[in-house]
Amino acid sequence: MKTYKIGVIPGDGIGPEVMHEALKVLRAVSAQDGFAVELEDYPYSGEYYLKTKELVPERVIDEWRSLDAVLLGAIGHPDVEPGLVERSVILGLRFGLDLYINLRPIKLFAERLCPLKDKGPADIDFTVVRENTEGLYAQIGGHLKKGTEDEVATVTGVYTWKGCTRAIRYAFELAQRRAQQRGPQGRKPQVTLVDKANAIRPQDIWTRAFAEVATDYPQIETDHAYVDAACMWMIKNPEWFDVVVTPNLFGDIITDLGAMLQGGMGIAASGNLHPGRTSMFEPIHGSAPKHAGKGVACPLGAVLAVSMMLDYLGETDSAARVESSVAGLLASGAIPSVDTRSGLSTSAVGEMLVGRLSQPG
Ligand code: IPM
Ligand code: MG
Repeated sequence: MKTYKIGVIPGDGIGPEVMHEALKVLRAVSAQDGFAVELEDYPYSGEYYLKTKELVPERVIDEWRSLDAVLLGAIGHPDVEPGLVERSVILGLRFGLDLYINLRPIKLFAERLCPLKDKGPADIDFTVVRENTEGLYAQIGGHLKKGTEDEVATVTGVYTWKGCTRAIRYAFELAQRRAQQRGPQGRKPQVTLVDKANAIRPQDIWTRAFAEVATDYPQIETDHAYVDAACMWMIKNPEWFDVVVTPNLFGDIITDLGAMLQGGMGIAASGNLHPGRTSMFEPIHGSAPKHAGKGVACPLGAVLAVSMMLDYLGETDSAARVESSVAGLLASGAIPSVDTRSGLSTSAVGEMLVGRLSQPG
């Protein structure tokens, strides 16, 4: 039997709660579909840091490279300096494993979840390809005379030709795959570049890289939007988008906006990928300390992260089954919302999904 070695980092706040349900679903689907998962737990989190002062050691990053995938709950603790543990765990994985794609599907499963008037599932179904290892996240910069009136803070955005082209190429390949899945009756594939090259001129490296890669895909339509306009279009005409490719920080920002189009942060999932290598999957929400320990967090983002992981590992039927169990549950109306006010506990939602997975058909 095929066995996948999965690293599990439940993390902080609601992270362990949503992870518990995601793993329930993973175990159920693996038992039904005839593959095994060997789970390896890792304690790294703000909570663990407060107890031990330990961040992720280099040898653990090496260990992660030998796994099939890593699942992450959420990182962030109110009593720890902002960003310290996030940089160690989340960015440690992204940079350490060179996970250069952050894949963030924005898909509406039920019309009533969408805050936009007159928009339904047919209008909101696109994917953001966020470049994940460069831009303003490259950690180049710092402070001078910190804490004085003369303080200077600098940060340098880094865009490499390799970094731009590999993200853009991934976006075109993805657009091609999505069009194949839609079939000949579906809309034509399209890739939209989102940047701010009018104000930040060095970002025209993205413009040129996009134009060059696009010549290899003449059958794919191309489009462009500055990031401020893209935010406007995402609300006004979300149906225009198919695949969006964008630098790191813009991808971070527009995917929170995208999550709201789907119904809320509770349902948005992501894959941090280096195609062909160990990759990491996580819900896009944070640790939400104020909701932690109450059993009210929505586990659907974490469950959909499991679906993305299965798809990445090649268990495509199982991935689709997990996604349809979420879609079916939402369509049934059994979950009124995908936030903390659904009236359902985190574990009740997990149980409902496991129940759906065992139903025939
Ligand atoms: C995300 C998060 C992270 C990011 C934080 C926690 C470092 O917001 O995955 O979107 O900025 O990338
Ligand atoms: Mg974010």
